[in-house]
Amino acid sequence: MFSVAIDGPAGAGKSTIAKKAAEELGYIYVDTGALYRSVGLACLRKGTDPADKDGVVAVTKEISVQLKYVDGQQRVLLSGEDVSDDIRKEEVSMAASLVSKIPEVRAFLLDLQRKLAVTNNIIMDGRDIGTVVLPDADVKIFLTASAESRAKRRTIQLREKGEEADEQAILRDIIQRDYQDTHRETAPLKAADDAELIDTTEMTLTESEKAVVDCIRKGIERK
Ligand code: DC
Repeated sequence: MFSVAIDGPAGAGKSTIAKKAAEELGYIYVDTGALYRSVGLACLRKGTDPADKDGVVAVTKEISVQLKYVDGQQRVLLSGEDVSDDIRKEEVSMAASLVSKIPEVRAFLLDLQRKLAVTNNIIMDGRDIGTVVLPDADVKIFLTASAESRAKRRTIQLREKGEEADEQAILRDIIQRDYQDTHRETAPLKAADDAELIDTTEMTLTESEKAVVDCIRKGIERK
């Protein structure tokens, strides 16, 4: 099996680019953020503060999180319910970032992620894929962009969907999530030593996709 780990901060375009690359290469795309988002959503639904460690750990004991693929598209099931759309809400992003600090939550989701790589050619995106989940991945990419350009892209994306977007609030949110994700003790966001760094601040989406696919193809040739 061939595995590609793509890590990087929120809003760097990981999911859009990884999804496209997976389609092009015929690989399965695994969005691991969806797993943390599901735990965050479960907490919000149960009225548990996502920052309350004991409360969150208790929630993980009452739920199951699974991934399934429908026509090649990932769907995430929270205790059997398809929550793929609900987990995209802005309040769930912050809850996911908070619950992801908790080592028990990370342990709860680790096996599921590793098992997927055993039986599939995959492109997996997240924060700790190249460092913790798949340290032996065949290709590791750290995809990043300045916080300002990530906030701008997110604002445009939301407005295109007809949703209201306050760019300054989005930028504050991104900076806060970056801080939380890079400063946590367990599996913080950081580039693996052997990761290829791709900074998309000055790139278009098409250029970023090409840079990622080129990097993966080189890895395939190497193997
Ligand atoms: O990629 P995303 O924005 O959907 O991720 C939501 C949160 O989940 C993110 O702020 C940090 C956490 N996360 C993580 O800790 N490890 C991963 N592999 C993926 C996401």
